Amino acid sequence: MYVLGINGSPRKHGNTATLVEHALKGAESEGAKTELVHLYDLEYTGCTSCFACKTLGGKSYGRCAVKDGLTPLLKKIEQDADAIILGSPIYFGTDTGMMRSFLERLMFPYLTYTLPHGTLFPRKILTGFIYTMNIPENLVKEYGYTLHFATNENVLAGLFGHSEHLCAYDTYQLGTIQRCSARCLTQRKKQSAKKLYSRRTAKRPFLWGYGLRKRIRYNTPVPKGQIHIPSRTHTTVCHLPWSDGNSVSARSPHLTPKT
Ligand SMILES: Cc1cc2nc3c(=O)[nH]c(=O)nc-3n(C[C@H](O)[C@H](O)[C@H](O)COP(=O)(O)O)c2cc1C
Repeated sequence: MYVLGINGSPRKHGNTATLVEHALKGAESEGAKTELVHLYDLEYTGCTSCFACKTLGGKSYGRCAVKDGLTPLLKKIEQDADAIILGSPIYFGTDTGMMRSFLERLMFPYLTYTLPHGTLFPRKILTGFIYTMNIPENLVKEYGYTLHFATNENVLAGLFGHSEHLCAYDTYQLGTIQRCSARCLTQRKKQSAKKLYSRRTAKRPFLWGYGLRKRIRYNTPVPKGQIHIPSRTHTTVCHLPWSDGNSVSARSPHLTPKT
């Protein structure tokens, strides 16, 4: 079993990378070969909408035609991976820009332009997503993050066969709080930072990685053409995470329905 960890945080030793590593260690403990890739080490763009991957009979049908720093990773996922564990901090209510660009390039070539949509990915693999974020768990729904997690999960499951996610809330991101203007980061957050690295918290992603082999074995294939991509129909007023409960609020752009 070959499990690829993909860190979408610029920080190689931050919350996200740490939790992805815990999940990989869990997979290693049951014999998996693992590798961790840091997206911020690679040079690449998002999808360029060239539609070469959708051109029937073309040499790039079902594959991304863009050649850049992402190409070897995309090839490795298609040919070798039994599971991929993605990790991203939440930046302004969504994945980091690097993670989004990576996902566009990974997912779009396999999505058939049929109704219902189908997948061209040649195998069935397990995908997992670890999200880390500053806000506490009780605000996740109010801020509309649950819709984002569900959208990623639905598309990944539809294209690759299986998807699940794990969240770390209330994380702490500053090692040098004295030197930053960080009025909204309280003492409570400093303490929760320690919690993240505690053995109890690390156990969850570890066990998650540990169970991969069994879940891959019992995973049932996705019937062709059954991919379900939810339409964005909700409008949510979201309080910006940094406002610390004060008066700043905004309409979350990624939740605004299409007109
Ligand atoms: C540019 C930027 C935007 C962020 N936006 C959010 C956000 O919208 N919601 C949130 O809960 N945390 C937000 N955060 C906090 C990070 O998601 C959080 O600290 C995360 O655990 C950092 O992960 P890392 O240690 O792997 O870099 C933001 C951080 C940065 C740098």
